[in-house]
Amino acid sequence: MSDWIDGEVVSNIHWHENLFSLKIAADIGAFRAGQFTSLALEIEGERIARPYSFLSSPGQQPLEFFFYVATDGVLSNALVALKEGDKVLVKKPANGFFTLDEVPQSRDLWMLATGTGVAPYFSILGCDEVWQRFENVVLVQGVRTAMDLRYQDLVEQYQREHPQAFHFQAFVSREDYPGSIRGRIPETIKNQELENHVGLPLSPEHSQIMLCGNPAMVKDCVTLLKDRGFAKNLRRKPGHITTEKYW
Ligand SMILES: NC(=O)c1ccc[n+]([C@@H]2O[C@H](COP(=O)([O-])OP(=O)(O)OC[C@H]3O[C@@H](n4cnc5c(N)ncnc54)[C@H](OP(=O)(O)O)[C@@H]3O)[C@@H](O)[C@H]2O)c1
Repeated sequence: MSDWIDGEVVSNIHWHENLFSLKIAADIGAFRAGQFTSLALEIEGERIARPYSFLSSPGQQPLEFFFYVATDGVLSNALVALKEGDKVLVKKPANGFFTLDEVPQSRDLWMLATGTGVAPYFSILGCDEVWQRFENVVLVQGVRTAMDLRYQDLVEQYQREHPQAFHFQAFVSREDYPGSIRGRIPETIKNQELENHVGLPLSPEHSQIMLCGNPAMVKDCVTLLKDRGFAKNLRRKPGHITTEKYW
């Protein structure tokens, strides 16, 4: 049985005009890193709800979520206006299967995202399990402009804490930005530019790959990875690719 509980906004961080994060105090109980819950507001007498992945890790309070303001998104346009102390409804318990429980053992874990699809990976990176299970943990985030690259303090923290294991690669598609690859993720899976940049080969033998974000990016990556011998993870038949339906 799921239930709506009251959450209280602790802070609303406006990164730029249409990118923001909410920190929300709410006792939603235990969850697994990579899961999501739903947030809701009463708007003109109607409860509008939508699922959002946790960016914060299990056990952390307040909970944290990362949002893009969708042009026609009624809820995201209301959420961006929330202030400290405002109420927001949070669904309890959490839900979803985009967790390490669904990822078979392997040497390397690749976590590929576009935009705010990076959120569940930060939740996973904040837990010991990922560092205990994988020799290499690669976070890849594709964004339109460098302004959309956020949480770089966390990236630097994991680089300091796990200098051998942790790799980060940014893609910025619409401008040149130091250290990033200019373009989109899928084409660099095809031409092997991604693995050359990271310095780690992608192979079904050694790599598990998680994909989250723009549905077209996820679809294109799955197609290209299948061409290279990777298969989707199914409960009855473990493979190498785990995907999240992000929107
Ligand atoms: N409903 C939701 O939950 C949700 C969540 C996040 C974002 N969005 C929507 O997405 C829009 C922009 O957000 P955003 O900037 O984070 O997302 P985006 O348009 O998905 O762009 C993020 C990155 O993904 C790239 N990309 C786009 N299509 C791709 C594809 N088929 N294969 C590989 N890469 C691809 C973009 O490259 P290019 O610059 O070349 O396009 C960009 O580098 C907003 O309008 C927002 O409403 C919706």
